[in-house]
Amino acid sequence: MNESRAPAREGAERLLAGFEDHTDAFTRITRRAPERFSARDWHGTRADALERLALYRLMLEPAVADVASLLGPRVSETGVWNSMKTAFAGLAAGRPDVELAETFFNSASRLIFHRVGVDPRAEFVSAAPPALPLGAASPLLVTFDGGAGTPATLWDALRAFRFSADWEDLARDVALAASRLDAMLAQAWGTPTFDALDLLRPVFFRSKGAYLVGRVRRGESARPVVLALLNPNGRIAVDAVLSDEDEASIVFSFTRSYFHVESFHPAALVAFLKELMPKKPVAELYTALGFNKHGKTELYRDLLRHLAASEDRFVRAPGATGMVMLVFTLPSYDVVFKVIRDSFAPPKTTGRTDVLDKYRLVFHHTRAGRLADVQEFEHLSFPVARFDPALLDQLLAGAAETIEVRGDEVVLHHLFTERRLTPLDLFLREASPGAARAAILDFGEAIRDLAKSNIFPGDLLTKNFGLTRHGRVVFYDYDEICFLTDVNFRELPPAQEEVSWIGEQPPYWVGPADVFPEEFLTFMGLRGEAHTAFLERHSDLLGVGFWLEMQRRERAGEIFDVFPYPRERRLRSTD
Ligand SMILES: Nc1ncnc2c1ncn2[C@@H]1O[C@H](COP(=O)(O)OP(=O)(O)OP(=O)(O)O)[C@@H](O)[C@H]1O
Ligand SMILES: [Mg+2]
Repeated sequence: MNESRAPAREGAERLLAGFEDHTDAFTRITRRAPERFSARDWHGTRADALERLALYRLMLEPAVADVASLLGPRVSETGVWNSMKTAFAGLAAGRPDVELAETFFNSASRLIFHRVGVDPRAEFVSAAPPALPLGAASPLLVTFDGGAGTPATLWDALRAFRFSADWEDLARDVALAASRLDAMLAQAWGTPTFDALDLLRPVFFRSKGAYLVGRVRRGESARPVVLALLNPNGRIAVDAVLSDEDEASIVFSFTRSYFHVESFHPAALVAFLKELMPKKPVAELYTALGFNKHGKTELYRDLLRHLAASEDRFVRAPGATGMVMLVFTLPSYDVVFKVIRDSFAPPKTTGRTDVLDKYRLVFHHTRAGRLADVQEFEHLSFPVARFDPALLDQLLAGAAETIEVRGDEVVLHHLFTERRLTPLDLFLREASPGAARAAILDFGEAIRDLAKSNIFPGDLLTKNFGLTRHGRVVFYDYDEICFLTDVNFRELPPAQEEVSWIGEQPPYWVGPADVFPEEFLTFMGLRGEAHTAFLERHSDLLGVGFWLEMQRRERAGEIFDVFPYPRERRLRSTD
């Protein structure tokens, strides 16, 4: 072992240097956000998001290559990695982002070993990041005394955040925001008075929005506060005030792209956000800050802890059987596991690579609150005893190339995880007319929001959409997803008398990208109140005009507004 110590230390230093290069590049991109926002450079914002999503692999691979060239053939010895791990732990200890550094180390180790499960000799299995005090003295927060009344407090708070663009009309926004906040607090607490407003110093940027995030405190109670800012015409305006756990949670949803926010101490930021939104998993909070690799680590660790503390079995996920995916879940855990089938039944014409590409497209694309985030795992292993036997039979029959049983373990060589939603088809079956109506109205909004982000779902059947716990409709089946601008939206040819067709092909030419909006309603298979509601509010989606117009605007380079809050939350109605 002794002779491996020196190169192991050198290897650990190089990996840490690789991590630091990654962090520097990540921070450099993140720091562009305020200027992009002030300059309304939305295309730049998009480019930054893409650049940052590609960064992890881009920085990991050379770091691993560097270590491999240092260690030579010994790079595949577990003993060397064990020494490197010890050295790395020593070097990274005390860093404010130590847990992210450890995840980077693990990624490097897994790139070399492609191992099944986790090897604690060569990977960090649990993280204990240093805690930072989160009282009012925390350097993360800036506190404003509430004693002078809401308008004065908000005035001070907003003026404390400097952008290079000016406020459009701060007095107007303060008055509107204060009366809105007063009303919300009066409803929640019986009085609008509060002791203090704490805001996180880092501003959260995403797409065309910027968000000030914090809480109001009154005695022992606290409520989240989110001030949503826009830059509609070169000057900044407060667009909405949210002060409710659910509403804050929707802003931080797993269905949205990641924030660009400076997080010098990610664990402290996550801890603070978790206090505001206790129901949101820590994994999703890390991911929302752009640390999706560490989010994945947290999800995996949480799943292992959950498995150790529960006894239920993996079962088939409720709902329609997928033609492309085998989907299962653990009833006591809010996640579905999706394994690609070995082969797809007709009419599916895609292959495994296409499916992988589509799911990865969603990772890189703006998710606009309507696409569920996906995590990709390789070589997971769970005890056979935790699988419902009927499910295991189906998995082995349908995905033998991906799943095998090794002794007492089921090894899954590839899968995606997504948050578990309530499939819309199941929901509609049981829902009251009122609930069905609300869900279908939001279903239409989901299709519109997707169109605004240049996405056409491909398959509009309700079984491919699900409801979040906030009742928002989200799309989750990506194998037929495509860019709106790649679709050929067509009108149905006029019905020809005496011509009826039975079988595969209609009597007019249909290209692979041809889509007929007039047929959507038939495909959706809506009934009763759901059918009525869709026709009432969304009948324009059933004509070609809407789609051609959206394509025209996309092609002209328009970047649409998609707000993570309902219209009625906006302080000034602009449409
Ligand atoms: N995130 C999710 N939450 C809850 N259920 C889900 C989720 N993803 C998938 N399901 C369930 O699994 C089924 C199959 O999943 P999915 O639609 O992704 O697979 P598919 O094989 O691509 O389907 P299709 O045959 O429609 O192409 C869904 O209809 C739904 O019932
Ligand atoms: Mg489906």
